[in-house]
Amino acid sequence: MPDESEETQRRKIEHIDIILNKDTQYHDKTTMFEFVEVVPSGKKIDSGDVDASSTLLNKKISAPIFISGMTGGHTATFEINKKIAVAAARAKIPMGVGSQRAMVENDALTYTYDMKKIVDDLILIGNIGASKLLKYDNKTVQKMLDSINADMLALHTNPGQESVQPEGDIDFKGVYGRICNLAKNIKQPVILKEVGNGISKEVAEMFDGKIFAIDVQGAGGTTWIGVETYRSKGAYGKAFWDWGIPTALSVLESKSVFSGQVWASGGIRKPSDVVKALAIGAGMCGVAKPVLMSENRGGSEGVYAYLTDMIDGIKKEMAALGFRSVEELRNADVKFGGPLTSLMRQRGLKIRNERRGQSY
Ligand SMILES: Cc1cc2nc3c(=O)[nH]c(=O)nc-3n(C[C@H](O)[C@H](O)[C@H](O)COP(=O)(O)O)c2cc1C
Repeated sequence: MPDESEETQRRKIEHIDIILNKDTQYHDKTTMFEFVEVVPSGKKIDSGDVDASSTLLNKKISAPIFISGMTGGHTATFEINKKIAVAAARAKIPMGVGSQRAMVENDALTYTYDMKKIVDDLILIGNIGASKLLKYDNKTVQKMLDSINADMLALHTNPGQESVQPEGDIDFKGVYGRICNLAKNIKQPVILKEVGNGISKEVAEMFDGKIFAIDVQGAGGTTWIGVETYRSKGAYGKAFWDWGIPTALSVLESKSVFSGQVWASGGIRKPSDVVKALAIGAGMCGVAKPVLMSENRGGSEGVYAYLTDMIDGIKKEMAALGFRSVEELRNADVKFGGPLTSLMRQRGLKIRNERRGQSY
């Protein structure tokens, strides 16, 4: 019988193999950013004059993007994390690690997440499943974060994935209270993240004033129900492949009730996705699968090229739209179209630009 730690490690390797080699994309759903239009400001700006930089935890970053938590917990994934970390530090972009459960179960694996030992100038986001808080007390989580010098903690909530995963755990009773208690008692700011199924306004509202950020990780990119469908070989996963709230809608829902930062991730693929997300109020945008793919193709240089291309693209798009800074972009007028408008109405979201009091 493999112990819990070996099973956790094996699962992480299987996940990477599936992500790199199989179709894990939503089929019938998109992020819905195609229904968001940023209204050009009318100003003439050269891309050389655009400043896409931003700050996180008072540290300057090249653009409000980050690498979503993916991996760690295995010698092979240490090599992946290391290459991503070197590129992230070089590009001045924050990086998340994957679930640190493997190192809680076996502390000899701590080095696979300890990216500040490789590059010290990096904003590092730790990660653990929210349901694990039923088992781990605050001291355990604090030690888990401190032993890799993490600056923030991303708590993932993933009921869709867990319901399809063969060894999945769908007992979330008591998790809400544990998240609120943990966020009050640990040093690092807490982010609640999904893994690609999105966060509704009902959930976001429960966390208002309790945590630092909500990272919606909505539908339209990688489907983790899809990933687990390959592992479970059951029909259930296939039927739920496309389950989830599109990222753009999830950002708008969360923004309507949550006063902290709302981050837009899940299916962020193009510079225009980032520009649109920022214009509808996202604080940051995270990318997962494309970073893993670029690491697999080109190592650290591949990830660096991916990040710098993305940042360049964001600057070009901001210039074309006439915004010199992220701050200016955040005050842009936005138009919504197609089914997004209808979904916003049905969800009770105001179809108007609250910042300027104009109707869309
Ligand atoms: C290989 C891989 C492993 C992942 N492992 C984790 C994890 O351990 N914890 C977590 O919160 N999210 C994990 N994710 C989910 C991502 O952080 C992200 O929420 C999801 O993939 C959607 O983003 P994308 O469409 O850019 O891929 C993983 C993603 C990938 C691609």
